[in-house]
Amino acid sequence: MALDHEDVLKEEKVIPLDEDDIAILKTYGLGPYNTSIKKVEKEAKDLAKNVNDLCGIKVSDTGLAAPSQWDLVADQQLLKEKPLEVARCTQIVSPNTEDAKYVINFCYPGKYAVALGDTVSPTDIEEGTRVGVDDRGSGHRIWIPLPPKIDPSVTLMTVEEKPDVTYNDVGGCKEQIQMMREVVELPMLHPEKFVKLGIDPPKGVLCYGPPGTGKTLLAKAVANRTDACFIRVIGSELVQRYIGMGAKMVRELFQMARSKKACIIFFDEVDAIGGTRFDDGVGGDNEVQRTMLEIVNQLDGFDARGNIKVLMATNRPDTLDPTLLRPGRLDRKVEFGLPDVDGRTQTFKIHAQKMNCERDIRFELLARLCPNCTGAEIRSVCTEAGMFAIRARRKSVTEKDFLDAVDKVIKGYKKFSATPTYMVYN
Ligand SMILES: Nc1ncnc2c1ncn2[C@@H]1O[C@H](COP(=O)(O)OP(=O)(O)OP(=O)(O)O)[C@@H](O)[C@H]1O
Ligand SMILES: [Mg+2]
Repeated sequence: MALDHEDVLKEEKVIPLDEDDIAILKTYGLGPYNTSIKKVEKEAKDLAKNVNDLCGIKVSDTGLAAPSQWDLVADQQLLKEKPLEVARCTQIVSPNTEDAKYVINFCYPGKYAVALGDTVSPTDIEEGTRVGVDDRGSGHRIWIPLPPKIDPSVTLMTVEEKPDVTYNDVGGCKEQIQMMREVVELPMLHPEKFVKLGIDPPKGVLCYGPPGTGKTLLAKAVANRTDACFIRVIGSELVQRYIGMGAKMVRELFQMARSKKACIIFFDEVDAIGGTRFDDGVGGDNEVQRTMLEIVNQLDGFDARGNIKVLMATNRPDTLDPTLLRPGRLDRKVEFGLPDVDGRTQTFKIHAQKMNCERDIRFELLARLCPNCTGAEIRSVCTEAGMFAIRARRKSVTEKDFLDAVDKVIKGYKKFSATPTYMVYN
């Protein structure tokens, strides 16, 4: 059978198609005006593209969308509708009854007692909520509850992405970590323990100690560890130009914190606002002091078993106002001292971990060589050691580099180390 087939193929001569045949084949199924239609279609397409291009330029010129996207009817509808007015509900008259009335305040003078619209339930509205009000025919009515107004600059203070510092990155400071965890984590994770004993957990912690001993670092580690919302405020951010603004920011800060499920507020460098009150002699009162008093007020305002914890860090605890520090406000005071030999060794190891070091460097020896050093200084030693290695064009850091760096840094810092001065205050 197969042979027969090949024979047949051989006998039949296949004539390849020539140009004319292809041309004829191509016209198969085409109408008489086909080419001209195609041409016109292409022209129309080009024109449309041209018009679009021109319109595009127009958009950037006038800020209007392309006319083809205009929806005049809907726009007119929208213009006819009156926007809701923002008011604040100040009082509820005869609540929980059929004819409850809500007293609202607009930004202009005048109060209104109004009823609820059909879209809001009475449980949504409390005294003090912001509401959207409109008079749609039948007098003013409350249509929607609005979220509290919080200054955007306060909202920006929330730390959304967790810092990449963990407790393992903090050398030494074992007691401090322990104390912080007790105050911050325990009440949040096991509130029932406190309820059973009948005590209130501390509301806040004050971290103090010489500069560079890891106060900010530990706070970052706490932020990383807990799932709570973490708000970091630098004291100087709260110092504002206008009277009352700083206090307002503090209020909004705590308001935002209260709206979260769990929240840690960290005031770094709190001595910027927490200074002892004094009379400046010219009879002017101090804006900074008022901000501090607002913090005190807010600290009293929330429940100790609640979900807000306040951390503060400073290196001048002696300048802080005693009101801020009294038990019941910041009960826990955690001192960050200079690290001992073990702490220093650990700190060396932590910082050397990320570096390309030779093996068996005697970190204990290095730690012994820099007594009275803070974590920041140890970090600086490590960096300097790296610089020595770079200068010598080596790819890894040797122990000799570290020794040289210790020499350089410790001697250099003797001249302007602030630590001894600060040790006097603390
Ligand atoms: N215990 C420590 N373990 C590891 N690194 C530390 C330690 N203490 C300080 N450091 C290093 O020093 C740097 C500065 O520390 P930190 O910012 O915590 O100082 P601070 O105590 O907040 O000082 P200041 O009072 O000036 O704000 C940290 O980034 C860290 O690299
Ligand atoms: Mg700090």
